[in-house]
Amino acid sequence: MQRTALVVGASGIGGRYVARELVSNGWTVYGLARRPIHDVSSVKPVAADLLEPKSLETALAQVEPTHVFITTWMRNDTEAENIRVNAAMVRNLLAALAGKRTLRHVALVTGLKHYLGPFEAYAQSGTLPETPLRETQPRLPIENFYYAQEDEVYAAVERDRFTWSIHRPHTVIGMAVGNAMNLGTTLAVYASICKETGRVFQFPGSEAQWKGLSDVTDARMLARQLVWAADTDAARNEAFNIVNGDVFRWSWLWGRLADWFGVQAAGFSGSTQPLETAMANDHALWRDIARRHGLAEPDLDRLASPWHTDLDLGRPIEVMTDMAKSRKLGFSPFQATDESFFDLFSLLRSSRLIP
Ligand SMILES: NC(=O)c1ccc[n+]([C@@H]2O[C@H](COP(=O)([O-])OP(=O)(O)OC[C@H]3O[C@@H](n4cnc5c(N)ncnc54)[C@H](OP(=O)(O)O)[C@@H]3O)[C@@H](O)[C@H]2O)c1
Repeated sequence: MQRTALVVGASGIGGRYVARELVSNGWTVYGLARRPIHDVSSVKPVAADLLEPKSLETALAQVEPTHVFITTWMRNDTEAENIRVNAAMVRNLLAALAGKRTLRHVALVTGLKHYLGPFEAYAQSGTLPETPLRETQPRLPIENFYYAQEDEVYAAVERDRFTWSIHRPHTVIGMAVGNAMNLGTTLAVYASICKETGRVFQFPGSEAQWKGLSDVTDARMLARQLVWAADTDAARNEAFNIVNGDVFRWSWLWGRLADWFGVQAAGFSGSTQPLETAMANDHALWRDIARRHGLAEPDLDRLASPWHTDLDLGRPIEVMTDMAKSRKLGFSPFQATDESFFDLFSLLRSSRLIP
């Protein structure tokens, strides 16, 4: 049966890889964003704002998706605003598609904040969950835009009768430019600046993160799980964690990342050392580095998101994720985490995004 995918947020760190994975599996793929990408071959761009229902309907007039992959969010100042905006994005999208009666499956990407709480209450005392994080853990008793997005999907399921899957990655490692959260590229840009200036590559985070076990989600793994769930009957109407499948300590990985760039590593040194502070005055320096090396993106803010890296690496507990649920249903891919970073760094270099 012909399958047509609509990837929502196709220029983002998750959506870009989902679109590529679907194309390589023979799907017809549309990629939606306000400024859609044109560089993933065979993805048909759809330019639309999810917060503008009328223009969304117009943009989707000729698109009849059987499967929708929602990999989008907008960052707001408070969680209340996150809930209002991000729930509306999902609601408007599914409302715009309802009349077509073509939809069979909707996959929604959320994340581990489902278990850790929203940024405002991110893994703070009183809301610390048990690790490894498991899909069976109940929602926290605090409001969360992920819950609001899930509830929009469930409401549309009642109305339109499609199947669904929810996917919860840890920190996503992959290439995207101008997106909201990108720890891998942030560290690559920081290391490149250290290399240029002779600065030490200082771990910015907490002792718990430095010493504790951790994991991450390679964007290629996320993409593979989304496509697997769309193709697997037993995966219908389920929520899944998705991480690489190994665990590591930042105290092990940090020096390896430094070695890749040929910079001197410094570990946890008694207190957090926010990257947001360390990189606050580097905009002109980056423009200069970009000019001297002929790089494609001179705007530091479109590559690095130190606020997010600080939050991620500054958590007061170790965070790792149970993968048993999808594995028991047959999802078997594995990704070594150091290679997630090294592959990304090589790609950033060959794409002329870092020297
Ligand atoms: N990044 C991570 O490390 C990470 C980790 C765990 C969980 N997650 C979760 O994964 C989900 C997807 O996030 P992501 O990090 O993949 O996002 P992202 O990289 O920031 O990309 C967001 C995508 O959505 C599009 N978009 C944003 N606002 C839009 C609007 N109003 N209308 C249409 N398109 C819009 C963006 O393109 P335009 O700006 O051109 O519209 C872009 O394609 C989120 O729930 C996030 O919390 C992310």
